[in-house]
Amino acid sequence: MSGTPTSPPPVALDHVSVWYGAERALSNVSLTVGGGEVMAVIGPSGCGKSTLLRVINRLVERTPGVRVAGRLTVGSEDVLGRAMSLEALRRRVGMVFQQPNPFPFSIYDNVAYGLKIHGERDAARLRARVQTALREAGLWDEVRGKLGRPARALSGGQQQRLCIARALAVEGPAAAALHRPGSGRGARGPFDG
Ligand SMILES: Nc1ncnc2c1ncn2[C@@H]1O[C@H](COP(=O)(O)OP(=O)(O)OP(=O)(O)O)[C@@H](O)[C@H]1O
Ligand SMILES: [Mg+2]
Repeated sequence: MSGTPTSPPPVALDHVSVWYGAERALSNVSLTVGGGEVMAVIGPSGCGKSTLLRVINRLVERTPGVRVAGRLTVGSEDVLGRAMSLEALRRRVGMVFQQPNPFPFSIYDNVAYGLKIHGERDAARLRARVQTALREAGLWDEVRGKLGRPARALSGGQQQRLCIARALAVEGPAAAALHRPGSGRGARGPFDG
């Protein structure tokens, strides 16, 4: 692993539909998010925003009775295909939930977690990657010098940004699906209307 982020691949949905039992939550959604682009999904409660994010890293399959149709690619990878490894997919497609959910570890260990489970053992590279991710998430200035403190002692908004850093830290994430990323910061996010 190097410290240089690679350019992310596009995420493309082609006629993606999702049913929870008999209820259709997404209906023939086709869209492309180009590499490096940011897309905000805005719509009324229940229109399928969370379902859209959850289908991109296949978290939606954990719901009993769910059915997904259509085609979804991240770069050249066929995300909905049987050959897709969920571990490989989730290494590339991070998810930040609406409620911050830091692990009961230190700030540092939360951000380093994904890198460690993917085999990074070099302490200097880990430190550099953790610092970069915290900077990218806009948290570094608030936590530098106290990375050993428990993550759960941070404020709600800081925990939210820590979870963003945790998702970004894994080398070269293709996509980070964020639920109301501004909502823990006292700001009104685009989904808060
Ligand atoms: N686990 C589930 N089981 C059954 N139906 C579900 C499930 N999750 C969501 N739904 C249904 O699918 C539709 C889309 O829900 P989803 O959570 O994607 O909406 P949303 O746009 O994220 O709403 P909100 O703005 O309230 O978060 C809704 O009609 C909801 O009732
Ligand atoms: Mg939602």
